[in-house]
Amino acid sequence: MNAQTEHILASQSRPLDRARALLAEMTLAEKIGQMSQVEATHGYAPDYLGDRLRAGQVGSAINNVDVDIVNELQRIAVEESRLGIPLLIGRDVIHGFKTIMPIPLGQAATWNADLVREGARVAALEASKCGVNWTFAPMIDISRDPRWGRIAESLGECVLLTSELGAAMVEGFQGEDLADDGSIAACAKHFAGYGAVESGRDYATTNIPDTKLRNVYFRPFNAAVDAGVSTLMTSFSDLNGVPASGNSYILKDVLRDEWGFEGFVVSDWDSVRQLQIHGLTENDKQSAYEAANAGVDMEMAGDAYSNHLLTLVEEGLVDEETIDKAVLSILTTKFALGLFEKPYTDPASLPEYGNDRALAAARDTALQSVVLLKNDDAALPLRQADLSSIAVIGPLADAGYEQLGTWIFDGDEELSVTPLQALQELVGEDIDLRYVRAMENSRSRANPEFELAAQTASECDAVLMFLGEESILSGEAHSRADIGLPGDQVELVRRVRAAGKPVIAVILAGRPLTLSNVVDEVDAILYAWHPGTMGGPAIADLLFGRESPSGKLPATFPRVVGQIPIYYSQKNGGKPPSKENTVHIDDIDTFAPQTSLGMSAFHLDTCFTPLFPFGHGLSYTQFEYANIRVSAERIRLGDTVMISAELSNRGDVEADEVVQLYTRDLVASITRPVKELKGYRRVRLVPGETQTVSFDIHTDDLSFYGRDGKRRVEAGLFHVWIGGSSDAAQRTEFRIAE
Ligand code: NOJ
Repeated sequence: MNAQTEHILASQSRPLDRARALLAEMTLAEKIGQMSQVEATHGYAPDYLGDRLRAGQVGSAINNVDVDIVNELQRIAVEESRLGIPLLIGRDVIHGFKTIMPIPLGQAATWNADLVREGARVAALEASKCGVNWTFAPMIDISRDPRWGRIAESLGECVLLTSELGAAMVEGFQGEDLADDGSIAACAKHFAGYGAVESGRDYATTNIPDTKLRNVYFRPFNAAVDAGVSTLMTSFSDLNGVPASGNSYILKDVLRDEWGFEGFVVSDWDSVRQLQIHGLTENDKQSAYEAANAGVDMEMAGDAYSNHLLTLVEEGLVDEETIDKAVLSILTTKFALGLFEKPYTDPASLPEYGNDRALAAARDTALQSVVLLKNDDAALPLRQADLSSIAVIGPLADAGYEQLGTWIFDGDEELSVTPLQALQELVGEDIDLRYVRAMENSRSRANPEFELAAQTASECDAVLMFLGEESILSGEAHSRADIGLPGDQVELVRRVRAAGKPVIAVILAGRPLTLSNVVDEVDAILYAWHPGTMGGPAIADLLFGRESPSGKLPATFPRVVGQIPIYYSQKNGGKPPSKENTVHIDDIDTFAPQTSLGMSAFHLDTCFTPLFPFGHGLSYTQFEYANIRVSAERIRLGDTVMISAELSNRGDVEADEVVQLYTRDLVASITRPVKELKGYRRVRLVPGETQTVSFDIHTDDLSFYGRDGKRRVEAGLFHVWIGGSSDAAQRTEFRIAE
């Protein structure tokens, strides 16, 4: 570090003041250097990165996690560049680093912010060991289309759940103080609307009216900003005709001016130059102009900024003030991370990979993420004493890599404990586990082992089928148009079913799958998402009832693809469907062609309800809700109303339940959803116990953005439900008085 930078550190203490002082020392070229992130996969050779680092042309490096190389990159930047500014070392640490937590969608199924925070903390500690100081997570794009491969990486369809769990991830990554060992800067992505890509095709266009942007897609980002997130990433997608990386409405008007965001905005990978491919600009120079003026502070892995920003400033097309603002927030983040004091990483000073804390977090999260979708005749839990043999069938029973899911660049497959391994460990010699993989992978069509699978099933007391999707079928650029079980899995289920034994399906997948064609073929379904490193032990514990399933769906499960988008917070419309006003195609009377078919918003060839609603998840015990109450039937703006219900454990198993509270604003100046989640709580009850679970709802919690783009709460009647899913039946109401 040069003497000037050392002087700044000694004379100023606040990151912002230090950044201001350093900015005053910088040439325009050095400033633009800070706005450029470069790919560092190939290290620091002079003709590759080394000379650019020495010239102060790089603010951040992405995708090198070899700690020796990272330390050398930092050394060159700190000791051989004029001002000695350390680098941000970026990496996609999405749901773990070496130890892998369930995919974010699975984490969302826990409805447990403490676990989600801990998972991010563990990931940050592990990633720091390599010198990573910036992750590109959390992804908080509301996702209402399970065809979209990136739904795996999301926290689901719900505004409140995504906002709260996203904020918890930010807290986990960033820790109490960014400068602490093991804290890394978080990046809320992808701003904004990426989850709404047409037909779930990754990178496709989005068209989102402003009220929906504000009431749905923006809100998790606003929550992340409130939680102190250091950075935001723009989306690849086109938003209402202006791609996010050139969209000053979202980046300036909303993010900076309305929300007061003080961190910095990074583009997605090369998305500045892609403005040209979108058809917004003619060339890279114009792309740099649009992005910089829209408020993109750093360009990820492209060279539009490094090649053109200097000229654009010299030509007066980009103000130096714009450059200064961007660089100020980038430098402030570097100071806040303590990088100037500690640019180098000593891996020995951080906990081992895959340590007890990390594995416990992975196991606890997996345990609470698994959702029991159905359980006919209490097929689960398995009773160890009653079984002498179990057939374990399917391509995902013993696939240590596949269970980790998407986005696991650095995940250590060696740490994985598969369901088969964990089951073997749990049952020991007591039960004969007979494993038939039956398919090479989840997509296989050739089925030479199906006969063996059926035969084995017929010889055993029960059958466990491990079905679903391999990890490669979800994630970025891995969208699907048909989201049923891939390959010949349905056929496998039918063949095994014919053996006449109880069949339990454990489904590992990166998205909600359409399960209509297998749901009646099996006795129970445990939906395990891609459960991560410790998925095996968690699944084994649940199968044998060492713990009751307690996950709840963070996304609606459609019956068929044609229902998409289907989500719990839909609008009522003018002709809402009900059992009474819908008809099935098979029931149309051929001889009365003029007959009305219901005149409501439904499909003739499927039911208007989903297969499994948002919030659904069964337990090994029976929970009963009763006596919903409000503390006041009339409240005024600014008041808080308390809503409570009694929850009883009527079964004979101690278990967790996620209690959910939904409201509906019946009449408003813009139409409001039929239900909105406003509170949730995980509670544990022993058999026979009753607890009163209560929620405080402030009138601000009922606010929405109106036609004028302003936030408001309107007087009127509100319905409120408490229950164990978005189908909650206990309802009461209150009114906000004029
Ligand atoms: C592209 C992805 O969209 C983004 O989420 C990710 O962080 C960057 N690539 C960096 O890998």
